[in-house]
Amino acid sequence: MRAGGDRLAAWPCPAAVARMTAAVELDQVSCVFGSGPGAVRAVEGVDLAIDAGEFFTLLGPSGSGKTTCLRMIGGFTLPTAGRIRIGGADVTAAPPYARPVNTVFQDYALFPHMSIRDNVAYPLMVRKVGRAERTRRADELLALVQLPGVADRRPAQLSGGQRQRVALARALIGQPQVLLLDEPLGALDLKLREQMQSELKALQRRLGITFLFITHDQHEALSMSDRIGVFNAGRLEQVGTPQAVYETPATRFVAHFVGAANVLEGEIARRLTGHAAAMLRPERIRLGEAAGARAGGTVTEVQYFGAFTRVKVDVGGALLQADLPTSPGKAPPRAGREAHLHWDARAVHALAG
Ligand SMILES: Nc1ncnc2c1ncn2[C@@H]1O[C@H](COP(=O)(O)OP(=O)(O)OP(=O)(O)O)[C@@H](O)[C@H]1O
Ligand SMILES: [Mg+2]
Repeated sequence: MRAGGDRLAAWPCPAAVARMTAAVELDQVSCVFGSGPGAVRAVEGVDLAIDAGEFFTLLGPSGSGKTTCLRMIGGFTLPTAGRIRIGGADVTAAPPYARPVNTVFQDYALFPHMSIRDNVAYPLMVRKVGRAERTRRADELLALVQLPGVADRRPAQLSGGQRQRVALARALIGQPQVLLLDEPLGALDLKLREQMQSELKALQRRLGITFLFITHDQHEALSMSDRIGVFNAGRLEQVGTPQAVYETPATRFVAHFVGAANVLEGEIARRLTGHAAAMLRPERIRLGEAAGARAGGTVTEVQYFGAFTRVKVDVGGALLQADLPTSPGKAPPRAGREAHLHWDARAVHALAG
């Protein structure tokens, strides 16, 4: 065996290097709007590395900094501090058109006077691609988003879900490395939204493009993402897989924001869980016999949700919420009754601080 061959084998091949480079990297990125006492710290010290081909979701309440973060990656807003890299290249000060990213905004921003085909082909027209090639590519993209046969219509002649797909096709036609999606399903009704969720996810898998998706809907985030970044007041509180964020929230905020949570503190937490502070998901609690129960108390409220019944039990020092699966012929417990609560020790997650 040649020594040189050995040395070469120790170096990663170019494809492996590309895989090691994050698609999007934020390094201590901050954005402050205005100055003085009225300044708004929209994003503060965010560190983030999104892998190539990843479906990454920014989840957080209204005003927490999600859109500002996305706009800085797209180049529409400049950070006041920190660096942004896309595919390894520093783009912190680069204008939007010089970045290998594209954005789908919540309102789709289609041109009303243009046909659907021209809307989709618009980015190619700006780049002076010839008409025949534009038409071919636009029709290809319309087929990809399952919208054949509407190319000659105007946006007003489509439904909300169809318009959303046109916006997606237009964002994809320039073959971006990264697609930024700011609450793209926000305007759709629940059924259509669920359908678009699985279509979007399937499309992302097929194309292998990195998706950075924004939502304030925890179900959407949990069901679609490879990883989730939870935003609160301009800061990233936790980054992890949907399972990690749901099962082992890093903070009380994450525990409450991602799903329903019983958060116990102090004396009652120590008595029921052995920790100074702990979280217990409502669906992990069962009602049962007095013998072996971990807590007992009086039912104060019963709410029927179809798939489950939410029961609140006053255990003396805390109100514990239990989500009990419903089944035909099984009556839910009634308010005022005694209840004995059971759970598996593994259902308890200790919270820091
Ligand atoms: N151009 C601006 N000038 C001043 N303040 C701004 C500007 N844009 C956003 N902000 C403020 O920055 C904070 C973060 O806003 P951002 O739009 O990023 O929130 P968001 O998480 O996307 O919220 P939503 O879910 O409501 O869209 C808010 O307090 C907002 O009022
Ligand atoms: Mg927003």
